[in-house]
Amino acid sequence: MSTNHNHDVLIIGSGAAGLSLALRLGEHLKIAIVAKRELEETNTYYAQGGISAVLDATDSIASHVRDTLDAGGGLCHEETVQLVVENGPQNIEWLLQGGVNFTKDDTSASSGGYHLTREGGHSHRRVIHAADATGKEVETTLQSQVLNRSNIEVFAHHIAIDLITSEKGEEKKQKRCYGAYMLNQQSDKVETFSARFVVLATGGASKVYLYTSNPDVATGDGIAMAWRAGCRVANMEFIQFHPTCLHHPEAKSFLISEAVRGEGGQLKLPDGTRFMDQFDPRGELAPRDVVAHAIDHEMKRIGADCLYLDISHRPADFIQEHFPTIYQRCLDFGIDITEQPIPVVPAAHYTCGGVMADHQARTDITGLYAVGEIAYTGLHGANRMASNSLLECLVFAEQAAKNIHAQDSEISLPPTLPPWDESRVTEPDEEVVVSHNWDELRHFMWDYVGIVRSNKRLERAKRRVDLLRREIVEYYSNFRVSNDLLELRNLVEVADLIIRSAMSRRESRGLHYTIDFPYSDDRVQQKPTILIPESYSPY
Ligand code: FAD
Ligand code: SIN
Repeated sequence: MSTNHNHDVLIIGSGAAGLSLALRLGEHLKIAIVAKRELEETNTYYAQGGISAVLDATDSIASHVRDTLDAGGGLCHEETVQLVVENGPQNIEWLLQGGVNFTKDDTSASSGGYHLTREGGHSHRRVIHAADATGKEVETTLQSQVLNRSNIEVFAHHIAIDLITSEKGEEKKQKRCYGAYMLNQQSDKVETFSARFVVLATGGASKVYLYTSNPDVATGDGIAMAWRAGCRVANMEFIQFHPTCLHHPEAKSFLISEAVRGEGGQLKLPDGTRFMDQFDPRGELAPRDVVAHAIDHEMKRIGADCLYLDISHRPADFIQEHFPTIYQRCLDFGIDITEQPIPVVPAAHYTCGGVMADHQARTDITGLYAVGEIAYTGLHGANRMASNSLLECLVFAEQAAKNIHAQDSEISLPPTLPPWDESRVTEPDEEVVVSHNWDELRHFMWDYVGIVRSNKRLERAKRRVDLLRREIVEYYSNFRVSNDLLELRNLVEVADLIIRSAMSRRESRGLHYTIDFPYSDDRVQQKPTILIPESYSPY
């Protein structure tokens, strides 16, 4: 007997987007939150720098909008930027009301007593934070509220396999989402989740690259599931590489926050020379695409394995107070950042594109929403400005909640859903196929579809991804599913979307840089790159 779960709202993902949406929804709704690992294992938990919002009397909405548009390289959707920025202050207030403890600064009257830091692209101090562990503070506070709500049921260690839509059923005209199949990793059984509203809050896809600041959950599952179900995706070529991840053989994925540069950190070559001024008048505080590109350029020019970020000129107590996590983590690896520069390299960090979602977070499928890093809303354009991501999660969670409330009486219960069919699969024969393909995919994505691209590299990557895709689809059709296989199936789908998007953009812009078209093409108004799946059925 397969297990069936029925809810009003199924939220897949337990980061800032998923948790804040669950809390914004009325307590009359029966809600399920699903996460594929422990609840807190999210990108959100690891966020360091903070959340951008206009909180200082000397700052303005117009300035935050302008900075976001500038960083986005001409591809932001201006109305989306306006919506998000305008809703910033009240969303921060909502977090404060919920008990999030942001770092205070009693000396600053204009910022309401909170310390605001600076990051690349921002022309004002507008990033509110909890020292250098903002994500942990936000995630754990939201989580404790969620766990206290009797209308919210939490399913950790359940990985969504695919969405269930009306395509094969009776409602042919207007495709509707009815739920999803989930592999319960504890029982190893596939369960059916049905819901009137389904929300993808599954985060980004940076694990598709060999080096990334992201935790293991960031495998683009929601993007791949939505694509397979018939949703359009946009701007997948714009993968953000964070300029400064710790370079140390044992320091997997550890980020050195941009706020370190915001508070005076200087980028240096191995001989101690600063170089950022040669690339941008804003120096270390240029937007991320510019800084990551400059570091990559200098590393290749001098053949260095890493460059250095130096904040040791600031007083030791200032560094320890503002960056306690970074200070301690570096010290664990024998680097005292109050005295020494930090070895750094760029790594894949953020997926600017994703599932197309409107201002209510609705996707192309009725009843299916996409919120947070998974979504393409038009906010980030060709390059996300630092700390605009958590803000986007909060604002669109609220927008989605409003829309779900408005639709509540209209959307009926889904029909009885068919159970997962595994009558034609057997136990996997050679799991090495999965682990080998994981490695191969992430290697070639790093080498051929990374910070600097070319036609030849993208063609090489496309040939490889096509081969891998065929192999993985065959493996998936024949063998019982496992976590690694499901993630690999999604990674290869997302890799293909990134490569195809990159191939179709015949210019360099923001995070997409190719040596074959090294300049932005401003002769025509550039548009987002929209990919349309075969199963797309517009309504
Ligand atoms: P996430 O927080 O990543 O949550 C994704 C959820 O989806 C997880 O619960 C996961 O288990 C679940 N999930 C995924 N696939 C499945 C599946 N198949 N089945 C079931 N569940 C699934 N942004 C800022 O604005 N400010 C910062 O200071 C900042 N710092 C950052 C530092 C680091 C190291 C990183 C990695 C990112 C940082 N970002 C920052 C970006 C920001 O943290 C993320 O964009 C944001 O947290 C994404 O939130 P989310 O809710 O969309 O997804
Ligand atoms: C950081 O702290 O540098 C990350 C900020 C972000 O990704 O927005």
